[in-house]
Amino acid sequence: MRLVLAATGASGAIYLQRLLHHLEPGNHEIHVVLSPYAKQVINEELGELKLPRGVVQHGEKSMNAPFASGSALFDGMVIMPCSMGTVGRIAAGTSENLILRAADVFLKERRKLILVPRETPWNLIHARNIVTVTEAGAIVMPASPSFYSHPKNFEELADTVVWRVLDQLGIEAPNACRWREDGPSAAE
Ligand SMILES: Cc1cc2nc3c(=O)[nH]c(=O)nc-3n(C[C@H](O)[C@H](O)[C@H](O)COP(=O)(O)O)c2cc1C
Repeated sequence: MRLVLAATGASGAIYLQRLLHHLEPGNHEIHVVLSPYAKQVINEELGELKLPRGVVQHGEKSMNAPFASGSALFDGMVIMPCSMGTVGRIAAGTSENLILRAADVFLKERRKLILVPRETPWNLIHARNIVTVTEAGAIVMPASPSFYSHPKNFEELADTVVWRVLDQLGIEAPNACRWREDGPSAAE
């Protein structure tokens, strides 16, 4: 697959790191864009983002990436974590940097755009912007980890969100925990 992975300035840099961990670079063409605030959050939460070999990183201010145009064929874009500021700017169609332009392109071309916002609580502006981007075709997957797989560390907890993103992209997640598929089901 040809994928664009972006991070913006919401908490949860680990989600992008785990997504990169699960994608086999030999099987996919992966482009990464980080907003300036994403870099700050990555610094706070991870120290640094480890990019697997073969992953291409683009500057947020550059429009020289192929996915800035709808003429380049891409399969999916994921913004994870996605700040509420970025959700609002996508909803408004500002397109003022590479992440926002690419999101705009994916929506206009009816390509898969997955947003993983993290914020709590929501104000009405957040809620309305989520409705707007959903109506425009984005798939909104709040960073809401699950616990029924009994995660033992932060990585395993983050994976409960990342598995669902991989499902949406149609990429196999062989180790994903699926409810009642791993063991005997309980008697009624
Ligand atoms: C350490 C840190 C954590 C933040 N966490 C969040 C968050 O979880 N959700 C959110 O919407 N904004 C969060 N913000 C605020 C955004 O970074 C800020 O609104 C910024 O303008 C977003 O810009 P961007 O979307 O272009 O990255 C955080 C900022 C910092 C510095």
